[in-house]
Amino acid sequence: MMNPSPNPSPSLTPSLTQTMAVAMTINGEPRQLLLDPWRSLLDVLRNEAGLTGTKKGCDVGDCGACTVIMDGVPVNACLVLGVEAQGSVIQTIEGLQPSPDTLHPLQHSFMQHGAAQCGFCTPGILMMAKALLDENPAPSEQEIRFGLAGNICRCTGYTKIIDAVSAAARQLRGEAA
Ligand code: FES
Ligand code: FES
Repeated sequence: MMNPSPNPSPSLTPSLTQTMAVAMTINGEPRQLLLDPWRSLLDVLRNEAGLTGTKKGCDVGDCGACTVIMDGVPVNACLVLGVEAQGSVIQTIEGLQPSPDTLHPLQHSFMQHGAAQCGFCTPGILMMAKALLDENPAPSEQEIRFGLAGNICRCTGYTKIIDAVSAAARQLRGEAA
């Protein structure tokens, strides 16, 4: 008969109820938040930081609607704990515009190409596209499709999204869009 596992020392057991002080920079603004350790970064952004542009679709990492850029890397915010963002730099859709009266070229291109319909997927796709173009300023159509493969859109059929990202990439490179 197997011996039952000894109980772990209470002092070594992380508490799921104890709030933790977490510091992160969101869209250039330092934030100090008191967080339950089980809350997702998506939940924290929407309900603690008040940034509801990041959308909750599936909440299990399947749809990409919650994509934000964390320390330069696109992540599904529903799969990251808020406390994991300690010390991180987060960019959300609210931080994509270079200034309040200027759209990012990706946003402008999505408008010009009709690449959003209901718009629910759009913040996540824009942030994933931003991360893609930051890493690869001249992606092929295939590379754009591959880069956006984790972002589901139920409305547009993707063609206009791909066209919009291509045109924004050209504009960002200083070529005619
Ligand atoms: S809400 Fe995060 S991947 Fe769907
Ligand atoms: S525009 Fe509706 S889900 Fe993409």
